[in-house]
Amino acid sequence: MIERALELVRGLVGTERTQGVARQVGAAALLGELDLEPGAEGVSDDELIARLGAVIEATPRTATRRFWNQLFGGRDEAALVGDIVASALNSSMYTYKVAGPHALIERVLTDRMAGAVGFADGEGLFAPGGSISNMCALVVARDRVRPEIAGGGSGGDRLGVYTSELCHYSIEKNAALLGIGRESVRRIATDERGRMVPSVLEQAIVEDTARGVVATMVVATAGTTVLGAFDPIEEIAEIAHKHGAWVHVDGAFGASVCLSPTKRELMRGAERADSVSWCAHKMMGTGLSCSVLLVREKGLLTKSFAQDASYLFQSGEDEYDFGTRSIQCGRRNDALKLWCAWVKQGDTGYAARIDRLFELAGVCVRMIEDDPDLVLKKQPESVNVCFTVRGASSDAVCERLLEEGLAVVGYALVDGEKVVRVPFVNPSMTEEDIATLLGDIKLVAGELRAG
Ligand SMILES: Cc1ncc(COP(=O)(O)O)c(C=O)c1O
Repeated sequence: MIERALELVRGLVGTERTQGVARQVGAAALLGELDLEPGAEGVSDDELIARLGAVIEATPRTATRRFWNQLFGGRDEAALVGDIVASALNSSMYTYKVAGPHALIERVLTDRMAGAVGFADGEGLFAPGGSISNMCALVVARDRVRPEIAGGGSGGDRLGVYTSELCHYSIEKNAALLGIGRESVRRIATDERGRMVPSVLEQAIVEDTARGVVATMVVATAGTTVLGAFDPIEEIAEIAHKHGAWVHVDGAFGASVCLSPTKRELMRGAERADSVSWCAHKMMGTGLSCSVLLVREKGLLTKSFAQDASYLFQSGEDEYDFGTRSIQCGRRNDALKLWCAWVKQGDTGYAARIDRLFELAGVCVRMIEDDPDLVLKKQPESVNVCFTVRGASSDAVCERLLEEGLAVVGYALVDGEKVVRVPFVNPSMTEEDIATLLGDIKLVAGELRAG
């Protein structure tokens, strides 16, 4: 069965570069088409493989040349190999006893990434996605500023979280989940480039402090979700630390620029932060999910997440029993795919990859600027290109592209206007792919204008 399933994978990977994303079928129709309910009795291997093949056939393909929708896409084969092996090994990353070399691999990678952001003696841990990494950072920040809350619960203190108005939605959600409250998140104004304005941040902290709010965490975003903007981390860290707040860099999207000597400057000041989230499944191109939370000071993760479990943590290998510093108990091995990808291409391969993404974004910008039908919304801050199409609304264009199976691309609001957002996260895209996308966008815009 494994051989035959691998055939299916081979078929998928072998054809996806030349295929569209998937036939668009509504959920109700697809439910009718696919045989999804497990029966009372099992089925033969043939039947299972056939049903799996049908599911693959109906699945949107995120590695095709027509997938531009999200901050991930494309395929790193070495990472895929690592993920297949990780699934086969089915380790749990909570103890050295069970994870063995994978705990060492996780340590090697998190040390490497901590070093890349400038944490000389930091530590890190893989978490299931950027949102959860951000949440763990908020837990550590809260415990740093109000250590008594973890034991006795909130004594009614108002904790303040400060972040840019263009932050990822997980910041507010996490504040709600942790009992800090959505309303305790102050969204700080950004400049015309989408970067948090430090003076506004300071003013908000001062005002709040006067009202008795405890400034707990300031989140600088490195690579905002829509514009790809980088907040001025150095200035933000200066202000936040002056007021006793933890500084977290949400680098879920953008921290990968640390791997490029020419782009690292965007993260200037990250070494002064207290924690950084970094998703390798975005710009580094591993499969989902592959996210790391890095903390500048060793031991703080354990302080926040350790919980006695005498049945589990008993190996004497505390240093590698990562369950003692994780939000999870059983934890998937997300490290092996990144390790395979990193070993295969090395630091120079990653630097070239990041530079190529920026280069492709530049190509796209030039094509838009040369085209009278397209209007660049802003010069990109990194790898996201946002633009509009004359005489057609961005949402209608994106929906039409999807309906016609031409491309999957998203729209977003920038300064109150709907724009098409094209993120460059897949270095296998070519100039020709960009030209095809823009051509298709103009084609459907023309159809829409013609009614
Ligand atoms: C800036 C930023 N932070 C956090 C996240 C959340 O990451 P994940 O989707 O891995 O939870 C995203 C996702 O796009 C993001 O853009």
